[in-house]
Amino acid sequence: IKYNTASFVTSAPDITKLPADTGIEVAFAGRSNAGKSSALNTLTDQKLARTSKTPGRTQLINTFELDADKRLIDLPGYGFAKVPIEMKKKWQKSLGEYLQKRQSLKGIVILMDIRHPLKDLDRDLINWAIGSEIPVLALLTKADKLKQGARKAQVLHVRRELSELDGDITVHAFSSLKGTGLPEVGKKLDEWFLG
Ligand code: GTP
Ligand code: MG
Repeated sequence: IKYNTASFVTSAPDITKLPADTGIEVAFAGRSNAGKSSALNTLTDQKLARTSKTPGRTQLINTFELDADKRLIDLPGYGFAKVPIEMKKKWQKSLGEYLQKRQSLKGIVILMDIRHPLKDLDRDLINWAIGSEIPVLALLTKADKLKQGARKAQVLHVRRELSELDGDITVHAFSSLKGTGLPEVGKKLDEWFLG
């Protein structure tokens, strides 16, 4: 699949405003500031999703389409404390509803900073995906921040931890900056989209 053909469809405050729930959707999820939007931009080789140094940038469910029945979703991040509580409640609610109700969701890319992976909320999401029989691609982002030895050690550590869960989980190091892991992401998404 040529991911650089992706185009913006809509920013939805809740799931009722999303495109029709048909075809196949792959969602990018993770803690605020983990690098979800950056990864989407790297994958699509476009500045589609807004990125920011300030956690909590993505507050809506942003939808991009590859074609009429293949979509990429940039989800709001979770776990960021410095957001007004009302706002947080609103988007955590839309995130939860999205995960629970979206029939076309066929794969989750969960992004975790390679320096701080597997926080409680990350584990919650992974366990939820396993329970829902949705495959997971765990990307350890900002891999450029670690030297090669430390990077490899983190990948092995996370693989080992996640192999204890009985799910369809793949783990790779990723860097939006350097393009590390990009071919592996393309391969996994092709699998999910094309079956
Ligand atoms: P929210 O929308 O707030 O949930 O964040 P997000 O997960 O979409 O993160 P975003 O892509 O906006 O990136 C957050 C910050 O991390 C930005 O300052 C990015 O430039 C930086 N960043 C993202 N990916 C990488 C990477 O691969 N390497 C490095 N060094 N920095 C990165
Ligand atoms: Mg974002």
